Amino acid sequence: MNQKAWQAEAWEKIVKKVEKTSERIQDRFPHASVAGVYQLEPASWWTAGFWPGLLWLIYRDTKDDRLRSYAQSCESQLDQVILDYERLDHDIGFMWTLTSVARYKLLGEASAKRKGLLAANLLSARFNNKGNYIRAWNPWSPGEDNSGLAIIDCMMNLPLLFWATQESCDPRYKHIAEAHANMVLQHFIRPDGSVNHIVRFDPSTGEQLEVIGGQGYAPNSAWSRGTAWALYGLTLAYQYMKDDQYLDAAKRVAHFFIANLPDDYVPHWDFRLPEQIANPRDSSAAACAASGLLLLSRMVSVEEQALYRNSAEKIIYSLYKHYGTWDLEAEEGLLLHGTSHFPEQRNVDVPLIYGDYYFAEAIAQLNGHTELFW
Ligand code: GLY
Repeated sequence: MNQKAWQAEAWEKIVKKVEKTSERIQDRFPHASVAGVYQLEPASWWTAGFWPGLLWLIYRDTKDDRLRSYAQSCESQLDQVILDYERLDHDIGFMWTLTSVARYKLLGEASAKRKGLLAANLLSARFNNKGNYIRAWNPWSPGEDNSGLAIIDCMMNLPLLFWATQESCDPRYKHIAEAHANMVLQHFIRPDGSVNHIVRFDPSTGEQLEVIGGQGYAPNSAWSRGTAWALYGLTLAYQYMKDDQYLDAAKRVAHFFIANLPDDYVPHWDFRLPEQIANPRDSSAAACAASGLLLLSRMVSVEEQALYRNSAEKIIYSLYKHYGTWDLEAEEGLLLHGTSHFPEQRNVDVPLIYGDYYFAEAIAQLNGHTELFW
C-alpha cells in the first residue's frame, strides 16, 4: 500500500470507530478505557476537552451534525466549571482550546469566541510574576500549598493565550505566555533535550526551590509524555512568536525524543529508567509528539524537514499498525497501551482519550489538514 493509501485508510477507520463510540459516550467526558469501555470523568477534569476536540476533528471532515451537537453540549457543560474556582487549574488551556476555540475556528460563532476569551482571562490570572510561571494546580486537599508549582504540560495550555491576543488585539495574554515559555527554557529544558516535569518555586520571591519527578520515575529521569508536551508546546510557541529560542529548544527536545525511541518508535512511559522498573509503553506520548513533529517539520528550513516529517510518519504508522484497535470491535479507545500515571499506578497500559485525540490530529495533518485548533 502506498503512503497516502494507509493514511486515508487510517482516517476512515478513526471516523467509523468514533461514529460508533459516540452513540454511547454522546456528550460526556471519557478519559481512560478499562476493559474496552471508556470511563467517564466530570466536566472539571483536565481531559474534558479531548473528546469534544476529537468530535470537532471529525465534524470538520464529515459535517455530521450529531457529532457537532455532542461537542457543543460538552462545551456548554464546561460553563459550570468556570465558576468552580477550587477545581480550576492551568488545564483551562486544553479544555477550552478544544471546545470553544475549536468551535470558533470552525464555525466563527461569537459565543465561542467570548468563552475562549473568558477562559484565557482565567488562565492569565494564574500567572505569578515573581517566578514568571503559570501556577499549575489549586490545592488537591484542604490546606495544601502548591502555589509554587509549575509543570511542563502547561506548554500546551499557552496556545489559548496566543490565540486570545490574536483575537482581541490585546498583547497581555501573549506577554504572559511568553514569560512562562521563557521560564520553561530556563528551568525545565535540560541541555540534552530531556525535560523536568515539575518545578517548585517560592511563590513570594520566584526563586527555584526544587525539581520534582511527578509523573516521571524521578526528578532527573525523562517522562516521555512530558517530553512530548514540551516538543509540541515549544513548536506552537515558535509558530505564534517566531522567536528562534523556542524553535531551537523544540528541536533539541525532538532530537532527544527521536533518539530514545525503541524499535517500534513508540516510547516507554519514561525514557530513563532503572532496568528493574516496569516499563510499559505510552502510546499517548507517541501520538502527541508525532503531531508536534509534523508541525515542527513545517517550521524548519527545507533541508531539515525530512528528519522531523519522516520520524513523525514512522511513529504514526507504528501506532496505526501495532497499537490501533481496528480489529477489536468491543474496544472503545483508538490506541492501546497508553500510560496515564505510572508512579500512582493509575490507568497504566490502557487507551487514553488524549492519545486518541493526538493520533486523529496527526492523521488529519498527514491528510492535509494543517490548520490546528491550538
Ligand atoms: N497533563 C497531565 C498528563 O499528561 O497526564
